[in-house]
Amino acid sequence: MEWKKEVEKVLREIDQFEVTKEQDLLSFKERFLSKGGLVGKLSSLIREVPKEEKADLGKALNTIKTKAQQKYETLKQKLEEEKNRFKCPKDISLPASDTLKISLHPITQTLNSIIDIFKKLNFTIAEGPEIEDDWHNFTALNIPEDHPARDMQDTFYIQLDPPILLRTHTSPVQIRTMESSKPPIRIIAPGRVYRNETVSARSHVQFHQVEGLVVGENVSIIDLKATLDWFAKQFFGPETKTRYRVSFFPFTEPSFEMDVSCTLCNGQGCNVCKYTGWLEILGCGMVDPAVLENCKIDPKQYSGFAFGIGIERLAMLKFGIKDIRLFFWNDFAFLNKF
Ligand code: PHE
Repeated sequence: MEWKKEVEKVLREIDQFEVTKEQDLLSFKERFLSKGGLVGKLSSLIREVPKEEKADLGKALNTIKTKAQQKYETLKQKLEEEKNRFKCPKDISLPASDTLKISLHPITQTLNSIIDIFKKLNFTIAEGPEIEDDWHNFTALNIPEDHPARDMQDTFYIQLDPPILLRTHTSPVQIRTMESSKPPIRIIAPGRVYRNETVSARSHVQFHQVEGLVVGENVSIIDLKATLDWFAKQFFGPETKTRYRVSFFPFTEPSFEMDVSCTLCNGQGCNVCKYTGWLEILGCGMVDPAVLENCKIDPKQYSGFAFGIGIERLAMLKFGIKDIRLFFWNDFAFLNKF
């Protein structure tokens, strides 16, 4: 029964065989499937073993053959997949093929057009960290400790004591700018923000905003409206109408949400605007005097307005995208459309 051990050894070897290159596959074929290979050698034992064992050996040989054949197919497929995954032109100095379309991500495109519009009004770009402290993300923005926005459900905390978190909006850049520079201030702050929300077609745990802040002497609600109306017309087209609904943000007083007339149905009512004719695109308001004070800016001398635009929302409207998750999937079929 010596052959039984031999059979087990061969089966084990087949099981453990791995391939990383074409040559390995050939070696496998050679070793297990060719006439001169292990299976061939074991077959020759048929003549030597006692009569009553011949049938068992025959069966074992068939098992080995099927196993080797199956494994060969699996290994071949695996190599094929690897090859496709790392497909690289033979000559990497060749120019890229014309069929390879290269374009900016729709979020970057949308962001760039927003930036271009505000640059025309002499806004400069400010930046802040995505990992923030409690002061900049909440306290300085007049968001009291018991405000629902601080709830663990909305905020990703990195550390609890003292609180370090992923910023939930770009508004902390308002604070950082007012702390480090004196009025007149006229900035926009584009960037990524995070919220602990259930991912769905309409909301995501990460998205982008463009914050805006203007602080100076005699900055009024008329400046806010003129700036944002102009932005809406530049972005959506000259026919675009705007309306302001009273809202609430702890860091602005009064606060508003700005709607634009639905770009798809021109205000007639459709499923995108939920038959209202209007689309909400941003939050805004006059900077709360308490926020100016927190940044050591005298609210008796200065006033300001601020706004926060959701980029994904604008990109979805601009390109007719129905699912926010598409922006983060890196799916070539989707990205190649832009
Ligand atoms: N930070 C607010 C939000 O994320 C938007 C906003 C910015 C509102 C500036 C008013 C002023 O919803």
